[in-house]
Amino acid sequence: MALPTVNPTTTKAWKALQNHFESVKDVKMKALFAGDKNRANAFTIQWEDFYVDFSKNRITEETFKLLLELADEVKLKEAIQSYYSGDIINQTENRAVLHTALRGKKTETVLVDGQNVMPEIFEVKSKMEVFTNDIINGKRTGYTGKAFTDVVNIGIGGSDLGPAMVVESLQYYKNHLNTHFVSNVDGDHVNEVIKKLNPETTLFVIVSKTFTTQETLSNAMTIKAWFLKNGAEQDVAKHFVAVSTNIEKVKAFGIDASNIFPMWNWVGGRFSLWSAVGLTISLAVGFNHFDSLLKGANKMDTHFKNEDFERNIPVVLALIGVWYNNFFKAESEAVIAYSQYLNQFATYLQQGIMESNGKSIDRNGQRVNYETGTLIWGEPGTNAQHAFFQLIHQGTKLIPADFIGFAESLYGNKDHQDKLISNYLAQTEALLNGKTEESVLEELKNQNLSQEEIEAVLPFKVFEGNKPTNSIFIKKLTPESLGSLIAMYEHKIFVQGIIWNIFSYDQFGVELGKQLASKILNEFDFNTTANHDGSTQNLLEFYKKIR
Ligand code: F6P
Repeated sequence: MALPTVNPTTTKAWKALQNHFESVKDVKMKALFAGDKNRANAFTIQWEDFYVDFSKNRITEETFKLLLELADEVKLKEAIQSYYSGDIINQTENRAVLHTALRGKKTETVLVDGQNVMPEIFEVKSKMEVFTNDIINGKRTGYTGKAFTDVVNIGIGGSDLGPAMVVESLQYYKNHLNTHFVSNVDGDHVNEVIKKLNPETTLFVIVSKTFTTQETLSNAMTIKAWFLKNGAEQDVAKHFVAVSTNIEKVKAFGIDASNIFPMWNWVGGRFSLWSAVGLTISLAVGFNHFDSLLKGANKMDTHFKNEDFERNIPVVLALIGVWYNNFFKAESEAVIAYSQYLNQFATYLQQGIMESNGKSIDRNGQRVNYETGTLIWGEPGTNAQHAFFQLIHQGTKLIPADFIGFAESLYGNKDHQDKLISNYLAQTEALLNGKTEESVLEELKNQNLSQEEIEAVLPFKVFEGNKPTNSIFIKKLTPESLGSLIAMYEHKIFVQGIIWNIFSYDQFGVELGKQLASKILNEFDFNTTANHDGSTQNLLEFYKKIR
């Protein structure tokens, strides 16, 4: 079944939300809390190890009710059904979207073109498991018989960001293997990595769904040439493996057929860490932890598929995001994780969210007349507090933020953990309440300042407050809880794409620049007079003179 094609602005709920917005846009959350003692409980969802409090938002019960009606009117339930059952919901690329099957149970049946894909998925998983164990325990060695010490993931976009973020997030669970990621076509990147490596003990995992990506192939060739300065051609099979859908191209690169981990075109690059694209994760933390990551995602999948919308975490977060994006016209959303382990999380989400929902043509092929994908950004707390929080607290922009925290510290350092979590809670409270003129005045008076001095500084010390946050509090950072967290955002992306009536699973927007880059590359060595604008032409000439 194709996805529904409802323009959200034509729904009754949207119109009601517009009217409702006029009456609540200036409402103070502080007043909402004061007026309803049960607000925090009513707007909290507890699920597994997750405690999701969305009460610090500029919403009333009426807002929430209307947002849920919007979800019904755009036929979200039917869309979820299509998503999970392998329908061609990536219509513009004529593909199903089944990263959820990658973390499904062996006993399930998921059909693509009438064929159950679960046996293939589990075949690849067991190949990953055997390979991972053989590398970790030294059964499989490099060309001089030494055990592997280093793993280099060569890939970009979804073939880099997911594995890199998860390896970083789960570094507490890591084994002895050192992991490196080479993504940028910037030759300095690959050279900085190479400099740390010993060819005899390094395994290279080339990850490219298409195996045509310029950056990845260039880096892979450079690394192979470096390797061949020491090893021989027949040693390549011991040190290079690939993850791809394009088996022929991988073989042409010189990789042994037994070293290819297949993936499928129904797995989008930015949702692929659950497939063999996650091989570097499995190598870094062991297959069992990788499998726990999948298990956590699967639990979130089940929650998302079956839970009523008002208790459904991804649905609720998506609806709140729509409320700010389309009614308050907030342009961006921040994600602040109070865990240094998650320092690449926002970068990872940028691809997932912005490549998916950065679209302006709806599912009817018409230009949208409303806002779609938000800008996403963030850094871990508390570092972020000392960087950009000033703007969130006192700037002119409305920036809804997700605050993610883990109750337990992995090393059990209670002193640091209490300080960390006190900051987490304090920031959301400060964003909610702000600081009134009266309390600033009071504070200044206690500092024995003159009336004149007080008046001069007072306005600058006031915090308006009323800044929205979601608090996502999780018991502990484990492979399983991380899997659930990532899947939560994946489903939020899906829900927002359905509401905005766009196709979330293509990425044609990245093509134009790629095409032009390959044209320009050909011009560097020739005196061609291609038709560039004056600015590009001058920059090109400048580079040609210096290179
Ligand atoms: O940037 C576009 C894109 O197609 C991403 O969606 C993808 O994750 C990335 O390039 C890498 O593609 P591949 O895995 O085919 O090398």
